Amino acid sequence: MNYDYEYFCKSAEYVKSIIKDTPDAAIILGSCLGDFADRIENPVVIEYKDIPNFLTSTVQSHAGKLIFGTIAGKKVLCMSGRFHHYEGYAFEQLTAPIRLFKLLGARVSVITNAAGGVNTSYKPGDVMVISDHIKLTGASPLCGKNIDEFGPRFFDVTDMYTKELREIALECAHGSSLTVHEGVYMYFTGPQFETPAEIRAARILGADAVGMSTVTEALTAAHCSMPLLGLSVITNMAAGVTSEKISHEEVGEVTGTISKQFGDYVEKIISRI
Ligand code: HPA
Repeated sequence: MNYDYEYFCKSAEYVKSIIKDTPDAAIILGSCLGDFADRIENPVVIEYKDIPNFLTSTVQSHAGKLIFGTIAGKKVLCMSGRFHHYEGYAFEQLTAPIRLFKLLGARVSVITNAAGGVNTSYKPGDVMVISDHIKLTGASPLCGKNIDEFGPRFFDVTDMYTKELREIALECAHGSSLTVHEGVYMYFTGPQFETPAEIRAARILGADAVGMSTVTEALTAAHCSMPLLGLSVITNMAAGVTSEKISHEEVGEVTGTISKQFGDYVEKIISRI
């Protein structure tokens, strides 16, 4: 498949034919965090399956809908349901969401995810503002022929998680009942959760949380110079930190418990973007 500039433009043209406005923020909702989309006022909903050249969600807790509307007076475009390499998508295909946001003119991207806590001072239900990431497995989503219209072949990723947005997110934590940390996210391809030995290695390398998403999107955002905020909801302590086994059900339970608080927190951040 030839993923050239026109390939991605085709998705954007379809969405633009339905949504005429430019989003202030485009938001990707992580595993079990789809409730946030219910806050969108005057929603316009587009099913992923109707967007040409777009991907479809295969994970149950990911709805597969693009929703445009207003939150806290800001125009937002929400992806309820995201794509992962473990679903069988090539890394290159995982550039589609952020490239769509870019082509629609979104000012910033906000990416949320569910993650396992590696830092032993974290606890389930905490939130981590992502300051940086570690990715030692899997190819870059920017492999293959470079698309110059999006960005250069070689690109800097020093400030991938935009400092100003991180500062806003940390300020918004004041007055929230959530415990908000700032830390490093480490990417594993999944779908298996990590082994205890991998988690010990991750900790030695400087990771505070681990997960199976976000990093492909963050790299795509850096390539096309899109300001980015990444937020992890710690849904469980990572493998081997406690004697508990990790399950997708547990991830759903914890996100369900803090759904309202997390939604209030993200809404406050959006109001300041
Ligand atoms: N590991 C990877 N991904 C995750 C985890 C985890 O422990 N929890 C939620 N998503």
